[in-house]
Amino acid sequence: MGNIAAARVADELPISERSAVSLTSAQLSIVVPTLNEAENIRLLYEAIRKCLTDVDWEMIVVDDDSTDGTVSVVRDLAAHDARVRCLRRIGRRGLSGAVVEGILSSSAFAVAVIDADLQHDERLLRRMLAELQGGADIAIGSRHTPGGTAAQGFSGWRQSISNWGTRLAQRLLRVEVTDPMSGFFAVRRSVAESILPRLSTQGFKVLLDLLVSARQPLNVVEIPYTFRPRHHGQSKLDSSVALDFLGLLVAKASSDRISPRFLAFGLVGLTGLGVHLAALSALLTYAPVSFDMAQVLAALAAMTWNFTINNIFTYRDRRLSGVGWFWGLMTFYAVCSIGAIANVGVASWVYGNEPIWWLAGAAGALMGAVFNYSVTSSVTWRRS
Ligand code: GDD
Ligand code: MN
Repeated sequence: MGNIAAARVADELPISERSAVSLTSAQLSIVVPTLNEAENIRLLYEAIRKCLTDVDWEMIVVDDDSTDGTVSVVRDLAAHDARVRCLRRIGRRGLSGAVVEGILSSSAFAVAVIDADLQHDERLLRRMLAELQGGADIAIGSRHTPGGTAAQGFSGWRQSISNWGTRLAQRLLRVEVTDPMSGFFAVRRSVAESILPRLSTQGFKVLLDLLVSARQPLNVVEIPYTFRPRHHGQSKLDSSVALDFLGLLVAKASSDRISPRFLAFGLVGLTGLGVHLAALSALLTYAPVSFDMAQVLAALAAMTWNFTINNIFTYRDRRLSGVGWFWGLMTFYAVCSIGAIANVGVASWVYGNEPIWWLAGAAGALMGAVFNYSVTSSVTWRRS
């Protein structure tokens, strides 16, 4: 199909340029997100090359500036095989964002996403493409449909988080797919492209996000496979994946009204309240300071805590360090001080109209949180 279209383009070009378009656009783009996979990526390439001999494919590696030389391995592959391309992202992190960018850079009929660590069975790719050509919108490599298994590839706790998450997602989001957490799937590019603007680029559950963000019912096919153990290196997904996942569930269950980041920011704020009260009590007990002074110091402690934790978790994709960390902290103090004024203003306004202390207090706190969140997201952790 791609060949015919390219032949037509080539026919219309001046003879001197025809050889330059002898390569046609692929039928299948294989997007491979990588973070330190130098030891695996060549093996994956070889495996794909061996099993997709009669498919017109290309491989798009989306690397988040790995420090182990993954990019040079991929560039070397690309120098010998023009079907390989490397998209190196600098200053950005995150599996979902990487996958979305890879998909967006494709012009093929179909796009597959596969991990670099050889946990996914590349022999499924051909069948996935065939399913899409036969009319499916998405073909998913499933570990939970009869014939598939995950037992070899996961540690005990990851297995139970994964099972628990799958059930929760199926219930809450009414997803009928047996393995909505799979990182291995293929989708018709036109279908992906229509859903992508609504996807969150945070987190790691791209497939689940695609499934629940689609406006039309999708024609989904699941293909069983055995999730293999990782070849080299370690999993890049840590315990924060559970948090990410929770955020995505809340976002989608609230029809995107509550963003995962805001949720995280709010939760961190709650822990900050604990820090504030603990610091206040300690200062009043052990330090010779007035209540007002103790309150100011406790507020500073809580703000420093909130900033640090948000910088580690909530904004880990834009994490500040060095001088940036210091300036970030200063702007965070400034914004939160204004937020505190907004908080008190709203609370006393509500209390004036409706003297219910907890309602007024909660309204003020919510106002402060929304203010702090929206301003710090563009001032303290602005996108570079
Ligand atoms: N570009 C980029 N940026 N790639 C990343 C990042 C990132 O921040 N984090 C991880 N990757 C790459 C890894 O290099 C690997 O190729 C792939 O994404 C999957 O990462 P792993 O670290 O191997 O994940 P896992 O094996 O723990 O989890 C797998 O199974 C989950 C099933 O519950 C993945 O397939 C998940 O997507 C899947 O949800
Ligand atoms: Mn893996």
